[in-house]
Amino acid sequence: MMAEKGGYRHFMLKEIHEQPRAIADTIAGRINEDKDRVLLHDLNLSDDQLAQFDRLYIVACGTSWHAGLVGKFLIEKLARLSVEVDIASEFRYRQPLVNERTLTLVISQSGETADTLAALRESHERGGKVVAICNVVESSIARESDGVIYTHAGPEIGVASTKAFTTQLVALFLFALHLGRVRTMLSSEQLREQIQALLTLPRKLEQALELDEQIESVARQFMHASDFLYLGRGNQYPIALEGALKLKEISYIHAEGYPAGEMKHGPIALIDENLPVVVVVPKNDTYEKVVSNMEEVRARGGQIISISDCDSSDLHSASDAVFAVPTISDDLMPVITSVPLQLLSYHIAVFKGTDVDQPRNLAKSVTVE
Ligand code: G6P
Repeated sequence: MMAEKGGYRHFMLKEIHEQPRAIADTIAGRINEDKDRVLLHDLNLSDDQLAQFDRLYIVACGTSWHAGLVGKFLIEKLARLSVEVDIASEFRYRQPLVNERTLTLVISQSGETADTLAALRESHERGGKVVAICNVVESSIARESDGVIYTHAGPEIGVASTKAFTTQLVALFLFALHLGRVRTMLSSEQLREQIQALLTLPRKLEQALELDEQIESVARQFMHASDFLYLGRGNQYPIALEGALKLKEISYIHAEGYPAGEMKHGPIALIDENLPVVVVVPKNDTYEKVVSNMEEVRARGGQIISISDCDSSDLHSASDAVFAVPTISDDLMPVITSVPLQLLSYHIAVFKGTDVDQPRNLAKSVTVE
């Protein structure tokens, strides 16, 4: 059994550590020689077809839905097409505005999630095209879609998704670059810059994984809390949601993700010394604003764990613990900041003695509505 897990105690930990390789595999073969173009061989949509879509839906469940929320930021910014992100179990009950000029991007690790498959069929019935981001080759969702971008994460056994999520983010980034070129929103120079950053990602993830020991000791400190609040802003807000979901799934601790700027409209009432607040705060345009949210938490006795690529004294003085991650472009930062959140949930769950790989009441793939 230990051999199956590659010497790791749990599949989840093995899969967390496989991320640099899984991401390298997801990028491999998808960049041209000049490194200024993305190649998506199984998309089955010509540049002309792609350029004609005027509406894009992203539809998924669970962790894959969180990837979709990041996808919206990527596609709207890089391809300048407006994107709506839907939870699959909601999508088909609200008469979605799908027609021949609509592309639906469904995201599913397993390719078998019943609600996501039903959303795909709904899009087809309304005359739209569907592209799947999927990890399982020849799964139902991959087969029924017009085109597919496979994440090459390899089999994911742990019920809590880790490497499938970060490879979905990479697939979305590749798609956003491709669509940005097709829609003439990105120059070759911009594409080259983005691709250069992408190619550094596996190495940077390895660096982020080196935080493991520090995270384990912080997890020991915070494992007894009964609630956690996760804050992030912009493309890090979905990462806060995903961090909170991961903690709930495997440690059974209640956790909530919130956009940092919205804290003052509710969650601030919860802050006291018993509510640890995990803040994803990379050095970007909203950095100062998020740090000031952290100061508001501290002023009310809250404890803060922050995740950042910024080593400033204001960050350290506003935090009880800082997980210092390597820096990368803002568009790719969510891939990096995901890693310490996965490790934090993992270690808390191990300390609590839960069944990390098969948490109660959850299934790896939900094939019923
Ligand atoms: C289940 C799993 C989650 C997963 C979700 C969607 O709830 O436990 O980890 O994110 O289904 O699964 P999919 O295979 O469609 O990505």
